[in-house]
Amino acid sequence: MQNALKIIDADTDAAPVSIASYLNAEKKSKSEACTKHGDFISRNVMGSIWTKCPVCTAESDAEKLRLDAEKTAEESRRIWQRKLGMSGIPDRFTSRTLETYSAKSEGQQRALKFASAYAEGFAEVLETGRCAIFCGKPGTGKTHLAVGVGLKVMARNGSVLFTTVQRMMRRVKDAWRKDSGESESEVIGLFVQPELLIIDEIGVQFGSDFEKNMMFDILNERYENRLPTLLLSNLTAGEVKNFLGERVFDRLREDGGECVVFDWSSHRGSTA
Ligand SMILES: Nc1ncnc2c1ncn2[C@@H]1O[C@H](COP(=O)(O)OP(=O)(O)O)[C@@H](O)[C@H]1O
Ligand SMILES: [Mg+2]
Ligand SMILES: [Zn+2]
Repeated sequence: MQNALKIIDADTDAAPVSIASYLNAEKKSKSEACTKHGDFISRNVMGSIWTKCPVCTAESDAEKLRLDAEKTAEESRRIWQRKLGMSGIPDRFTSRTLETYSAKSEGQQRALKFASAYAEGFAEVLETGRCAIFCGKPGTGKTHLAVGVGLKVMARNGSVLFTTVQRMMRRVKDAWRKDSGESESEVIGLFVQPELLIIDEIGVQFGSDFEKNMMFDILNERYENRLPTLLLSNLTAGEVKNFLGERVFDRLREDGGECVVFDWSSHRGSTA
């Protein structure tokens, strides 16, 4: 109650002062000259604060906005670089987008169409966990198109991990060491987590039972969580099936998983 009384007191006291200062401020303007933009009317804001040259003010406001935008863009670039670094996409492939894939032959057009639809429809892909295998001759752009899909998914804030069979094996084997900071199941977890997992170089080395089991564990857990995987190989579809084993292969074909065959000649050394 005492507080309320004080406020009323303060208001009744303040009212005549504020009207007076308002009237006073109206009168308080003076002619000034800017060394760059010439004469202008400067108004008193309060106390000893006066408005500056309106052109200079507009310029400095615009510059501040530009710097803010630059800072935001720089921050986005930094976040994107960090995401790229964590995605495992090789440096020399970060410019391999769906847009930079040139599709001249019918096969290339079919592959690009598949990759674009997969990336564009990734929300639907995530609902079913629909996988795909890119297989065929080396140099035909399997890694390029898979990275293109990955970059598109990442640009829409999806999590992507690019790896090779060898890298997965090494990581799992590292976890077995006594001094390893992570357990085998933690490593498997890393490959199960991302929304899109791209496994390159399937069949570069002989698929041991251990490799088959590891791939089954990872693909099976991803399958259970309806998370899609892209598998890339220079082998034929039949050889990929042999490498992965029937169990894994069948899992991949469920839910409409497709095998895209890259059967044209290598792009390496071509001028296109
Ligand atoms: N159709 C294409 N358009 C543009 N670049 C291509 C095309 N096909 C392949 N390349 C390029 O050729 C190189 C080899 O392709 P890559 O994706 O590594 O082939 P693969 O994985 O099938 O062996 C890469 O630098 C890739 O960007
Ligand atoms: Mg490749
Ligand atoms: Zn000025």
